Amino acid sequence: MIYDTLASYYDALVKDDQATQAWVEWIEEFTEPCSMLELACGSGEITHALAQDGFSMNALDLSSEMIEQARKKDRSVSFYCGDMRDLSQFQTYDAVACLCDSFNYLLDKAEVRLFFKEVFDHLNPHGLFFFDTHSLDRIEEFKNEYNETGRIDNIDYQWSITSEEDIIYQDFAFYQANGMVIQEHHMQRVYDPAWLEEVLSEFFDILSVRTDFDKKGIDSGEKYFYVCKKK
Ligand SMILES: C[S@@+](CC[C@H](N)C(=O)[O-])C[C@H]1O[C@@H](n2cnc3c(N)ncnc32)[C@H](O)[C@@H]1O
Repeated sequence: MIYDTLASYYDALVKDDQATQAWVEWIEEFTEPCSMLELACGSGEITHALAQDGFSMNALDLSSEMIEQARKKDRSVSFYCGDMRDLSQFQTYDAVACLCDSFNYLLDKAEVRLFFKEVFDHLNPHGLFFFDTHSLDRIEEFKNEYNETGRIDNIDYQWSITSEEDIIYQDFAFYQANGMVIQEHHMQRVYDPAWLEEVLSEFFDILSVRTDFDKKGIDSGEKYFYVCKKK
């Protein structure tokens, strides 16, 4: 299962307090503290920051290891292990969020449409949906393979990112002291924003689209940020 090994190293690899603050400020531009369901919450950094600001958080992730990391950070949040494509166990919320490339783990267009419908069904009237996606530029960028090597807690790791057509591939290798190598292979799909907006508009009014938090609309950059309101 992806993230089962990565979970122990996730914060060491990507945790960034300034970025967490930027995510929180982006959300708080559009809503007061409210009830929120966070999908694919990972190690719970943004979840915890929102809870500290007064949001009533429920949070879900597919990886039980990620949920374990998240639970250690914030006992006030209700964390669930499960698949964001099936929200049948949840009630409705003032807001739903799916942050930091998590949406890109949905690999199929039909799945994306069903996901938006699932989010729609779990929002209160006029509820808000916050999510981001990798930009189209990332596909171009990773045509040249990205490679990172390093050491966390005496474990050497390698992280490579490549792309082909509309898929970004991320490969992680962790070299254990006993000689074992644990690998994870991740696939993320990048969708054309024109297609995304078409599907979103079946369920939502799109209130805001930005690139990299501060550029209006679809522009050059790493991520597109969407704020949508339930129709
Ligand atoms: C890049 S991490 C982002 C985590 C977190 N949102 C953050 O801001 O750091 C992607 C997360 O998506 C989760 N994920 C991927 N597919 C999922 C699915 N179908 N349902 C729930 N979580 C999923 C992974 O387990 C992982 O924790």
